[in-house]
Amino acid sequence: MHQQDQGRGSVSRRDFMKTSALAAGGVVMSASQLAGAHLTGAGEIKIGLIGCGGRGTGAAMQALSTKQNVKLVAMADAFRDRLDQSLANMSNPEYSDYTGPDGSTIKDRIDVPEEHKFVGFDAYKKVIPLCDVVLIATPPGFRPEHFEAAVAAGKHVFMEKPVATDAPGVRRVLAAAEEAKKKKLNVVVGLQRHYQTVYREWVERLHNGAIGDIHTARVYWNSGGVWVRDRATLEKEAGRKLTEMEYQMRNWYYYNWLCGDHITEQHIHNLDVGNWVMQKYPVRASGMGGREVRKGKDHGEIFDHHYVEYEYADGSRMISQCRHIKGCVNRVSEAFHGSGGMAPEPGTILTPSGYTIWKHRDRNDPNPYQVEHDELFAAIEKGEYKYEDATNGAKATMTAILGRMATYSGQLIEWDDAINSELSLMPKKYAWDAEPPVKPGPDGFYPVPVPGVTKVL
Ligand SMILES: NC(=O)c1ccc[n+]([C@@H]2O[C@H](COP(=O)([O-])OP(=O)(O)OC[C@H]3O[C@@H](n4cnc5c(N)ncnc54)[C@H](O)[C@@H]3O)[C@@H](O)[C@H]2O)c1
Repeated sequence: MHQQDQGRGSVSRRDFMKTSALAAGGVVMSASQLAGAHLTGAGEIKIGLIGCGGRGTGAAMQALSTKQNVKLVAMADAFRDRLDQSLANMSNPEYSDYTGPDGSTIKDRIDVPEEHKFVGFDAYKKVIPLCDVVLIATPPGFRPEHFEAAVAAGKHVFMEKPVATDAPGVRRVLAAAEEAKKKKLNVVVGLQRHYQTVYREWVERLHNGAIGDIHTARVYWNSGGVWVRDRATLEKEAGRKLTEMEYQMRNWYYYNWLCGDHITEQHIHNLDVGNWVMQKYPVRASGMGGREVRKGKDHGEIFDHHYVEYEYADGSRMISQCRHIKGCVNRVSEAFHGSGGMAPEPGTILTPSGYTIWKHRDRNDPNPYQVEHDELFAAIEKGEYKYEDATNGAKATMTAILGRMATYSGQLIEWDDAINSELSLMPKKYAWDAEPPVKPGPDGFYPVPVPGVTKVL
């Protein structure tokens, strides 16, 4: 099982250890050894965190656990309590066993004074000028705006997947990715399978023809689902009624402008592996989906299952399933079929008759979440331009959005129509008393897409 999407929701010690397993030892480089084009200050690589939730906290700890002389200098979150919790967790030795060669801990690498803690929708704008590398881990709806701003300011970026929730957002990220290329800014996207030994070895073999010409991919994220932050509990904690914007921002998973539905938010990992192995992006998709158990007022508008058939230009297919329903068979993985064999799960290659010709042996493989940062910060320190993940990140995101358009509408959707869609899911205005783009009806329930009726282009 290759289920990786840890670090979300409330952060347990176990989650931190999983997502921030640390490379022991390491060398803190001197100022003179730092050759990066975009570094400031006395040899430090300054990082700023935008989105201080489970994943942002984990990503910052991983950046602070690299061999480079990294310092966290600024943080932004929509909510002050999330920022404070993140800082407390990062500073807690319980959550990390990192020790630098000089005996330093993660806490020693954090220097975020009160005047560098920013809160609200505009907080990101204040973090970006203060750092060399921006870590972006908000809900994905905000990613295009934040990534664009980081690139415009000439900063290297680590950003989480997905990188948008609608086609206009994907196009903004693609345009900013071009700008980042021109400026030679390293960009790593948190599709961490690209940084995971088993996938790197498996995909290389598949690209080298281990199973011949690949005609079919099968990709899965079938699991029990994720957290729900219900309105009643949130209002009890706050001691007051929340505005609709506040509530949706807290319970962001269930609103498409923020999350993109779970086909985008989680299943993107597997769809991305499918495209990576096939070495192309789909040209059209059709599918079906709906909600069987997500029926409450706190379940917003997203589905709990999608089944999609993607078609590539040469007629090959990617068959995709994602489900968030407890009590069903779970599977988070990918499989490929070719003219000369099959690859039934990551790290395995079989002949057509089922004889195993290669199996990856996990020899204490490094944590891919850590590898992302180890490689990014090593490149930045050396002044190398090596990582351009944003274009693939945007097209992987678009693959998921294409699938969502197919399941919501019940139509056959062409990639070109989907990516050129002008339909924006984002609000016109960001403010706590502003109207979010989707609102509950008088009964408290949100409108849910209906295949055959819902328009998606
Ligand atoms: N690569 C992976 O395996 C992996 C795992 C978990 C999460 N993720 C991704 O990381 C992102 C964050 O997920 P999470 O689980 O940490 O969620 P989370 O809810 O724990 O954290 C998100 C944080 O962003 C803040 N935020 C929301 N809007 C903001 C804005 N406009 N400006 C600043 N801060 C804002 C929220 O208040 C919250 O603290 C998502 O895109 C998710 O898909 C990736």
